Amino acid sequence: MLVSNVPPVVGQRPVWLDDKTKSIMDRAIAREQFLSRLLMTYIVTGLIFMLLPGTFLGVWNLIKISSREAAESISPAWIQAHGHAQLFGWVATFILGIGFYSIPKLRKLKPFALWEGWMCWALWTFGVIIRWFSNIYPWHWRVLMPLSAALELVAFLIFFQAVARHRPTGGAPKPWEPWIFVVIAATLGLLASLLLNLGASIQLARHANSPSFPREFDQRYLIVSTWGFLVPMVWGFSSRWLPVFMGLRPLRNPLLLTALGLNTAGVVAGFFGHLAMAGVLLLTGAGIAIAAIRFFEPAAKAAKTINVHRSFPVFIRIAYGWLLIAAALGLWASLMNEAPGISGASRHALTVGFIAAMIFCVGQRVLPSFCGMRVLWSPRLMLVMLTLLVTGCTLRVASEILAYQDYAKWAWDILPISALIELTAVTLFAINLVATFARPPVVVTSPLTMTTE
Ligand code: HEM
Repeated sequence: MLVSNVPPVVGQRPVWLDDKTKSIMDRAIAREQFLSRLLMTYIVTGLIFMLLPGTFLGVWNLIKISSREAAESISPAWIQAHGHAQLFGWVATFILGIGFYSIPKLRKLKPFALWEGWMCWALWTFGVIIRWFSNIYPWHWRVLMPLSAALELVAFLIFFQAVARHRPTGGAPKPWEPWIFVVIAATLGLLASLLLNLGASIQLARHANSPSFPREFDQRYLIVSTWGFLVPMVWGFSSRWLPVFMGLRPLRNPLLLTALGLNTAGVVAGFFGHLAMAGVLLLTGAGIAIAAIRFFEPAAKAAKTINVHRSFPVFIRIAYGWLLIAAALGLWASLMNEAPGISGASRHALTVGFIAAMIFCVGQRVLPSFCGMRVLWSPRLMLVMLTLLVTGCTLRVASEILAYQDYAKWAWDILPISALIELTAVTLFAINLVATFARPPVVVTSPLTMTTE
């Protein structure tokens, strides 16, 4: 039986669908709504980790360090609680949510069962929360730290089999494009980080007196979780989306794979303590990735900046500039004997200047539409927060080198200011996304019009 089940739009003829097609469409729409809800839950969870256990604790730590003018004056467990909340509580939670939403669609895979997405979220969130508490209040930490690491690993395995298990739905399998190899390498970097975290947590529980990784292991572990996981993940999604969003010339795929190879070799060298070699490999890899995606060459088409601030391509280029600065500072630190100011500055050039700035730019470009066809609440606020983030990061990186390395005493006074500027930037980012999710979805009533309900 034919039913007039799609409301006609003025000027268009009614669309008639048979029952079977209508029920397929209804199921597809319902699934899309569930997926958007799942993604919004991951994003809001990530924002909470970013604000309180992550950035607020980071600011608190930095204010204490600056008031005592001594980098080693606060507990390593508190620093690691901040780092874990930012890398795994914020960034990885975003990546898991976006992965659940987009990877099966991009690869045209069979849909996964929705309970897998919710189960992964529950185990992951619980794992990251108890890790933070066992670092901050060492209550039963010998049980809670390994438990947290095990929960995070199980959550990851649920994610991995949900987005990688299924075969394509029909026809000959599509050959893998190079960006997929980059995302797979990043996913293996996440798996390696989680396994290291579990092994080290068990070791600590059995033999140590406090819930913090020893400094040398921590530095090597951070190379895996930043350069081995986050950096290739950003490269992968950059090469998938940015040529379109920024109107760039076609990707140089062989160069992208070369950059990935050098980066992976750099991570392995760094993990085994060959820091100077790692520095050279990571810097060369970053330069080649930029040449592969062609950020600094004249664009082939106009950038697609509808619904975001038109400065979007400028901030993406600035973020990739920070990637080079982070790699160069890492190489410099490796050539010095012990340089906590330079290695700390390199880490924040990477995590704030590159990773956070990329999430601010690309996140505000894609998340509103992924989360139920919404429009970003305020593109102008996006400009303000990105300007604040870059300003705070510049002050932080420069003054961390000057203060921690004892090059200039006055730089201690700049550090708390940089922290408050960065805190304002991340708070505005959270406000813009939450206000966006609170807006009604956009309804496409005809190919020519877009309205809100
Ligand atoms: C308001 C912004 C931030 C402030 C004030 C801040 C502050 C700090 C401080 C004081 C440290 C101790 C080491 C050092 O002095 O360099 C630190 C370490 C660290 N931060 Fe941040 N941070 C901020 C943002 C971020 C972001 C956005 C990320 C990641 C996305 C991040 C990841 C890390 C990591 C991984 C460490 C090393 C932890 C460890 O040693 O295990 N931070 N941060």
